[in-house]
Amino acid sequence: MPKPPPSTSPPPQPLHGREIILAVCGGIAAYKVADLLSKLVQRSCGVTVVMTPSATRFVTPLTFQTLSGRPVRTDMWDLPDSSDPQHIGLTEKANLMLVAPATANIIAKTAAGLCDDLVSTMINAAACPVVFAPAMNNLMWTNPITQENVQKLTRLGYRFIGPEEGWLACRNTGPGRMSEAGSILEAVTQILTSPGAIPKPVARTILKPNEDV
Ligand SMILES: Cc1cc2nc3c(=O)[nH]c(=O)nc-3n(C[C@H](O)[C@H](O)[C@H](O)COP(=O)(O)O)c2cc1C
Repeated sequence: MPKPPPSTSPPPQPLHGREIILAVCGGIAAYKVADLLSKLVQRSCGVTVVMTPSATRFVTPLTFQTLSGRPVRTDMWDLPDSSDPQHIGLTEKANLMLVAPATANIIAKTAAGLCDDLVSTMINAAACPVVFAPAMNNLMWTNPITQENVQKLTRLGYRFIGPEEGWLACRNTGPGRMSEAGSILEAVTQILTSPGAIPKPVARTILKPNEDV
């Protein structure tokens, strides 16, 4: 029996036209984020990359600029748009801000409300949901301070994808390995396409006086 002709309909593109801010932090897993970015772009997602100063020591902005086809922001004091000096407007246009790799440092800074560089300031002021994909040494991940910060942020509506257990760049094995690009992509797609799955933008949640967080 002859085989039916291959389907000519294009694969579904659930991320088509979505806007993501990809915030890259200073962990060795930053190299894997180039692959994640390429996968997002191939799914017709618009991605704007922002980087911490530490992240630029691991992968150059040029790599992300080339893959995203957009300028990469690394400096709070570089002001391309005088009406939006802190680049906060970027998060107003975005459907999601994905922090990958999320270092112990950026998790701690977010939990403490610190805003001393472009990425931490944008997270603090984000008008869209913020999702972290942590990557760090197993002892950093299991450090009670990190765990307490993760619990606090989860309670506040931030999402976490991973980390996984496995081989770590420090040549240890344990929890702290960033989820693979495919798993992050799947989780992001699910968050963006499941009705009601998107957590409220944290910055817009007004707490009542004396309410515990
Ligand atoms: C080679 C090297 C690898 C590192 N890898 C990680 C990592 O995977 N996760 C992490 O949390 N910190 C890691 N660090 C430490 C961070 O780079 C450091 O805490 C930095 O202040 C993070 O800054 P950022 O959060 O602003 O990007 C690493 C440092 C070095 C020198």
